[in-house]
Amino acid sequence: MSTSITATAAWRALAAHADAMRGRHLRELFAADPQRGERLRLQACGIYLDYAKNRIDDQTLRLLLDLAEAAGLRARIDAMFAGERINATEDRAVLHVALRAPRGADIRVDGANVVPEVHTVLDRMAAFAERVRSGAWLGHGGRPVRNVVNIGIGGSDLGPVMAYEALRHYSARELRFRFVSNIDATDFTEAVRDLDARETLFIVSSKTFTTLETMTNAHSARAWLLQQLGGDEAAVAKHFVAVSTHAAEVARFGIAADNMFGFWDWVGGRYSMDSAIGLSTMLAIGPAQFHAMLAGFHEIDQHFRTAPFERNLPVLMALIGLWHNNFLGAHTAAVLPYEQYLKRFPAYLQQLTMESNGKSVRVDGAAVGCDTGPVYWGEPGTNGQHSFYQLIHQGTRLVPCDFIAFGRSLNPLGAHHDLLLANVFAQGQALAFGKTEAELRAEGVPERLIAHKRFDGNRPSNTLLLEVLDPGNLGRLVALYEHLVFTQGAVWGIDSFDQWGVELGKVLAQRIAPELAGDAPIAHDSSTNALIAHYRRLRRG
Ligand code: F6P
Repeated sequence: MSTSITATAAWRALAAHADAMRGRHLRELFAADPQRGERLRLQACGIYLDYAKNRIDDQTLRLLLDLAEAAGLRARIDAMFAGERINATEDRAVLHVALRAPRGADIRVDGANVVPEVHTVLDRMAAFAERVRSGAWLGHGGRPVRNVVNIGIGGSDLGPVMAYEALRHYSARELRFRFVSNIDATDFTEAVRDLDARETLFIVSSKTFTTLETMTNAHSARAWLLQQLGGDEAAVAKHFVAVSTHAAEVARFGIAADNMFGFWDWVGGRYSMDSAIGLSTMLAIGPAQFHAMLAGFHEIDQHFRTAPFERNLPVLMALIGLWHNNFLGAHTAAVLPYEQYLKRFPAYLQQLTMESNGKSVRVDGAAVGCDTGPVYWGEPGTNGQHSFYQLIHQGTRLVPCDFIAFGRSLNPLGAHHDLLLANVFAQGQALAFGKTEAELRAEGVPERLIAHKRFDGNRPSNTLLLEVLDPGNLGRLVALYEHLVFTQGAVWGIDSFDQWGVELGKVLAQRIAPELAGDAPIAHDSSTNALIAHYRRLRRG
């Protein structure tokens, strides 16, 4: 699309409509339409989405759907599935959907079907996972693996750690999983301090196999292992495997080709948890459950590709989110899973959403002309309720919330689950309807406290209700947000698949690192110079 989305009639119509909607309250919208709760909900792929508690009416939805048409969303979706190089600045196709396509599907990049090679890697991963899980894979001293340490960062860490935590219930409990990402040595040291190297397998996960943090940690892991195992280099082959697109770098590190699991440049780091980057997940839950997760992803892919936009979960959620962001002035979006196993889901979504849509220029390099990706954040409920929910309820900022809950607990215990669900429903209700001064007075609240105890309400939320947290539903949830991000990026006309914004800091760190040890003159800005000088004094002790 060559013109900015903000210049379209659809955008202007939404802006005008927003002026009218700003004065309307959810109390009023619900009162005017007793069926609103049944009408503004969508059930697909085992997900029940209640979107009635958003500040929208039928006209808002119509205009948002017009906006999607004006942005050429359908063509953008088709282009992605057709393997076009929609990651224009990196000249790459974007085909994470091929990672979960069933055997026999046909998805092409440059004329070649990539699905067979996806399944070749999945089969190799499965064979390896079975050997480790059964105890057939032996370490250097002849012992089976008991500890698996994934070393990676960004998409090579956040997906694996989130999926491990999310699916811990389904995991082989005799295996211990650790995840090392930070270049801060504390991360590695604490991860291995109680591990026996003879029983430890390291997975070095890095798309490029050049990332400073990962390679530094991988070299420290290699040194730790060799030191514990008497220095025999032959041990590396038994205790290190790699997941990467970069065979030459993997070989340079000393990991044999047999111990490398590949993926492809058309898989973005933050879209890679269902590629070989998910090897730790497969080790934890086994190949069959991993495939169940892939099937969940695929179900949403098909839904996204084929469902009409007004009944399309990711599209609807994306458009409503965009409405909050661009027309009602919300700058953030909270994701609040009422499921303890999803405790790392918000952190995972932060990279997915913000590295994808934290852009201020369009694909053609022109300024976007409107706000793009909101700041995503969140914590599992109910903990957040006793922390930051105060601001969501009574603060000055508008914070749209996505509540995520499940019909059944994986750990049923007394009344816990009903109480958990009562809380999530109550939060959405309180945010939407608030509490009026009249209600407070009727309860006899003293006049001096009325202003403090008043809840304005009119604060938007979605509630996603699924049956139970299992691998398939995790896949569905992740794919839902992946395609939500895609949809918003397509409307803004940005490249959601590059991440140039992380480069500058990396380059500057490489320049600064060698300067810290010596006392040679430094020539940065005065603030950085002073910080380096002070650090030099501190490190001398
Ligand atoms: O932070 C930038 C980034 O390139 C992410 O997109 C990626 O997930 C992460 O670094 C890790 O990269 P790699 O897998 O190549 O080590």
